[in-house]
Amino acid sequence: MPVFAEMIAGLIELKRSDDEGLVAQLTSQLRRLIASGRISKGGALPSSRRFASDLGVSRNTVTYAFEQLAAEGYLEASRGRRPVVTIDGGERIERAGATTSRLRPGKPRLSPWASKLKQADWPMSYLAPLSPLRPGHGDAREFPNEIWARCLRRSAVRAAKRELGPVNRPHLREALAQYLGDSRGVRAAAEQIMILPSAQAALTLIAATVITPGDDVWVEDPGYSGAAAAFRASGARVIGVGLDEQGMQRVVGTAAPKLVFMTPSHQHPTGRLMSLARRTDFLAASRPGRTWIVEDDYDGEFHYDSRPVPSLQGLDAHGRVFYVGTFSKAMTSDIRLGYLVAPPALRDTLEIAQRHMGLIAASHIQEALAEFIGDGHFRAHLRRMRRLYHVRRDHLVGEMERRLGGVLEVEVPSGGIQLVARLTRGSADRVAVKRLVAAGIETRALSSLSLDRPRDHGLLLGFAAWRESEISAAVRTMASCF
Ligand SMILES: Cc1ncc(COP(=O)(O)O)c(C=O)c1O
Repeated sequence: MPVFAEMIAGLIELKRSDDEGLVAQLTSQLRRLIASGRISKGGALPSSRRFASDLGVSRNTVTYAFEQLAAEGYLEASRGRRPVVTIDGGERIERAGATTSRLRPGKPRLSPWASKLKQADWPMSYLAPLSPLRPGHGDAREFPNEIWARCLRRSAVRAAKRELGPVNRPHLREALAQYLGDSRGVRAAAEQIMILPSAQAALTLIAATVITPGDDVWVEDPGYSGAAAAFRASGARVIGVGLDEQGMQRVVGTAAPKLVFMTPSHQHPTGRLMSLARRTDFLAASRPGRTWIVEDDYDGEFHYDSRPVPSLQGLDAHGRVFYVGTFSKAMTSDIRLGYLVAPPALRDTLEIAQRHMGLIAASHIQEALAEFIGDGHFRAHLRRMRRLYHVRRDHLVGEMERRLGGVLEVEVPSGGIQLVARLTRGSADRVAVKRLVAAGIETRALSSLSLDRPRDHGLLLGFAAWRESEISAAVRTMASCF
């Protein structure tokens, strides 16, 4: 039965203790009264002043609820007049509500890809707060936040004058082309560089652009699980290829794959450097447009014992290599910026694909980073971190040899931010990782980074993100666990 305006307040029950605020409670109760037809089309609601006093709430509470219902099309509210109901509740609206409320919430139907996500072992399942010695992180505490904040501020202030449009900002492209040429021997025109939210975004973009479902993709084994995940998502058959002392092996006598993914400067996870001979072998076997190489240079900035080996991309004269990098390690992991140097023949397609997939990084952050690199702050930060991480690497190696020498054999990497320690007794690295995680030490089992049958058992440990005292404490805890 329809109700008169004066009666409406009596039908509303507001609870101040409710988690839902008063405006939300009032809005939903009025919406229900209109939808059920109890306040019929053309009927006027009380004035906001009167309604507020009847309900014992502020006039703003009532006004906001009226405005919300007007925006949803339930009311017409104009200044100085009582709001009027504009829809015929009752049948249709109520029926729709009743039908849906009778439906039981079924299990959502996922795509074949999404339905396997929960079983995937990437990303790491225990990603909660960063604890020692989680691999893959630099020390965010050492990042020059004040300088970065100034770059961000200037970039924001200049926003109004900026040319709108280019998703890969020209200043950053130029700064990166220069930096990558000087420091990594990458040969790239600025226009080949695409700025993305992460290295993972670059891998996803490459996979979507060149993989046809069923194509073979070779990845290092053990290797970076994020790469396997990106190529599988495009329907590739991902095949693990073992390593020897020269790096990823080159499988001969089988059909050439569509793509080979590698981390030649600092193999993930072992830290091995791919020899020049192996690099040239891979390049010689890769045909433009038929077998692509993806070079992931995720932490190539950090090298301690010798001069860095230039990128594989720099050796390629035929545009067969995608060069991928990230600022997650060199700056901080939450900066969320990566890049891709596109082979010239794919540049335009990749740029369109980038728009289609929405893999675009915020312009003001790109501009800030262009300034950060252009003004020399990035190089200065890297120089400082190289010194710091070098000391931390040696400290972790020393502590482990001293306290865990009989249990773990450390492989000292010449660069990067993490190292591998092999278990000398037994081979249950996953059991060891569980025990360590329970004691607050976060490592990764080497066997979990293998695609097929694990060939190696050991631990992957990060050293860059922790101070020497923290490393010492962590190794003491580790020693008590073994
Ligand atoms: C080999 C390798 N590539 C890429 C990345 C990730 O980079 P991003 O965070 O930019 O996706 C990682 C992170 O651990 C990595 O180990």
